[in-house]
Amino acid sequence: MEGAESERELAVDVGEVLVEVKNLTIKFGGLAALDNVSFVIKRGEILGLIGPNGAGKTTCFNAMTGVYKPTTGDVLLEGVSVKGRKQHQITRMGMARTFQNIRLFGEMSALENVVVGLDARHRTSVPGALLRMPRHVREEASSIDRGMALLEFVGIAQHAEKRARELSYGSQRRLEIARALATDPKLLCLDEPAAGFNPAEKEDLMALIRTIRDEGYTVLLIEHDMKLVMGVTDRIVVLEFGRKLADDVPTAIRNDPRVIAAYLGEPEDDAA
Ligand SMILES: Nc1ncnc2c1ncn2[C@@H]1O[C@H](COP(=O)(O)OP(=O)(O)OP(=O)(O)O)[C@@H](O)[C@H]1O
Ligand SMILES: [Mg+2]
Repeated sequence: MEGAESERELAVDVGEVLVEVKNLTIKFGGLAALDNVSFVIKRGEILGLIGPNGAGKTTCFNAMTGVYKPTTGDVLLEGVSVKGRKQHQITRMGMARTFQNIRLFGEMSALENVVVGLDARHRTSVPGALLRMPRHVREEASSIDRGMALLEFVGIAQHAEKRARELSYGSQRRLEIARALATDPKLLCLDEPAAGFNPAEKEDLMALIRTIRDEGYTVLLIEHDMKLVMGVTDRIVVLEFGRKLADDVPTAIRNDPRVIAAYLGEPEDDAA
């Protein structure tokens, strides 16, 4: 792993601000789904984004990735505003995501779904440790090879030729992650990637997310299962009714009376 980390070229040191969400407000008619929310995402961390149903978590992803335009406020990636940019342009800037409701090209093979992601960025790198080959060889590798390496990385290489819609639910979720990684993102946003998983599957997925972080990626994770979120994240931002309720390390969040109150009566995982 040491070799892999040094190979990945990080433009800024780990721990520096990668993304800044600044006074972000999103209104739908009279309802503020996000109300003046600010937080930063530091390079190399796994940041949890949690909160009860309807708190504004997915809306935040949508604003970051250009699906929704901020009513007011902004999102900056490495100091550059995403405002006024189209979704594919924001992807090229380095913001990738998965969706709460899986969105794959169902009739295309798993491998083809990933190659589409590779084409979205026109960049040749995938995490160094994936391919275990020297850089010059890796850069000459075809998109098929790179797509296969990514499928292997997320653990579904054996299903490369299957149509996406024929994959199990769990494999589809992993395929979405592979496709997002194919764009070589600076920030990977995962919207409830473990929704509907059993505890063992969730544990496996969290291990994968940790590995992704260890490869040098920065991850923003929406996840309802508090136990999992506490175990995998470096820091957590809590939303409630569109406002930021708390922003701290997991141990502090766990003991925050406001967070406990916000979650009273919330089922552990109601996403499925
Ligand atoms: N396109 C839209 N039009 C109108 N209202 C919307 C739209 N998208 C989201 N909302 C509303 O904004 C609020 C926040 O929704 P959002 O999907 O961001 O919540 P969430 O935190 O992701 O919840 P969940 O945990 O259920 O996924 C909700 O009240 C939702 O109904
Ligand atoms: Mg959501």
